[in-house]
Amino acid sequence: MASLTVRQLDDKLKALLRLRAARHGRSMEDEVRVILKAAAAGREALEKFEPPAPPAMAVRRPASPIAADARRVLLIIGGGIAAYKSLDLIRRLQDGGAQVRCILTAAAQHFVTPLAAGALAGERAFTDLFDARSEFDVGHVRLARDTDLVVVAPATADLLAKMAGGHADDLAGAVLLATDKPVLLAPAMNPRMWAAKATQRNLAQLVADGVRVVGPNSGEMAERGEAGLGRMAEPREIAAAAAAMLRAAGPLSGTRVLVTSGPTREPIDPVRFIANRSSGKQGHAIAAAAAAAGADVVLVSGPVDLPHPPGIAVVQVETANEMLAAAERALPADVAVFAAAVADWRVERVGRGKLKKQHGEPRALALVENPDILATIAHLKKGRPRLVIGFAAETDDVVANAKEKLAKKGCDWILANDVSPETGIMGGDSNTIHLITATAVESWPPQSKDDVARQLVERIAAALQDEKR
Ligand code: C5P
Repeated sequence: MASLTVRQLDDKLKALLRLRAARHGRSMEDEVRVILKAAAAGREALEKFEPPAPPAMAVRRPASPIAADARRVLLIIGGGIAAYKSLDLIRRLQDGGAQVRCILTAAAQHFVTPLAAGALAGERAFTDLFDARSEFDVGHVRLARDTDLVVVAPATADLLAKMAGGHADDLAGAVLLATDKPVLLAPAMNPRMWAAKATQRNLAQLVADGVRVVGPNSGEMAERGEAGLGRMAEPREIAAAAAAMLRAAGPLSGTRVLVTSGPTREPIDPVRFIANRSSGKQGHAIAAAAAAAGADVVLVSGPVDLPHPPGIAVVQVETANEMLAAAERALPADVAVFAAAVADWRVERVGRGKLKKQHGEPRALALVENPDILATIAHLKKGRPRLVIGFAAETDDVVANAKEKLAKKGCDWILANDVSPETGIMGGDSNTIHLITATAVESWPPQSKDDVARQLVERIAAALQDEKR
């Protein structure tokens, strides 16, 4: 049988496979195995195939259910007592929305096990340069490249020396030599080893090579009676430094993005309100994807039942008027995406006390129109974002109505979607989008709201890039 490697697949297939693998927390090769196994069992099985249950130690997924913000971190765990903290670091990185893959050096395995690291990461940990399974599977060069950031924690004196000298006699060394991605070191060693001329020389070389360093901190060492500079930075400090590096490397780094999301709630009296069924899933996913791409994001959100996406400034509002005020305060911004389902009307006179039932005719509520937040910002003479994007939720003539809306609201792009009840889009997890610009209509395939968010962010990054040219 001819052999086929993932590398030989075409880019589109590779991208789909990467997405599927990321969703299941598996390597691309493991994902292919799962697909082939199911296919061998018959087509029906392919549809019904359930991924194997995660280990009982429970794989922790990012705190946010939104996967659009998933960035890849390759964590190299070196052999020092601080390695136990690296298990906590895996969680912290995941809480920040990253997918983590681990490599353990031989020395690291005296302190923590590949099983523990793999169970927490949700993917087996890699240990051996000469392990045929790893090399056929992923290979050290792929490990080095299929990531957005490499973190070395603890970075021992020996690892620093190896890196500075370009040694590649084990998996960690080979990966560090082969990577073209940013590298973050969290040194940890005895204070005398840290102060040693050789260590400082190696460190200076690595910094000159472009490697970033977090810590070490000062304090008690594991060895009794020893104290000084050499404690590994705390996992939360390392995770924060990693998040900052991931943002800086993203295609939207240096841009400010405003996103509105969720419904608004227009009060009738102190206990009643007018609202709608918007879940905020699409807007939140866009905010998360923009942040993952390095943007500085302000999310103005109506009341939703979703966690705040990591690393984002969230302004919570209730009414359309509050949403407009918060959006205006968030300016200037380079890009503004209006994904909120804003109530068109509010009650003219909000009851100061709870409205009472009347005998006879039911009471009529007089309504007044709410401000159109998208149109207001899109028509700004001064301080208009470079790219203003709206949504059009339609139930019929989706594209025609959206084109009309583009002109009426004065925005640059409209993402139109069919929200007829039978589509299940409102409150659901998937979306079918037509992207309407001044010159074109592009129909995207049905996909998850996270994927819509990612695709939109890619388009935004490309548009801003084109503008610069
Ligand atoms: O007019 P319609 O509600 O269909 O327009 C939808 C688009 O306009 C969405 O992008 C929505 O966020 C935005 N909008 C707004 N303020 C309103 C009404 C809609 O920003 N009052």
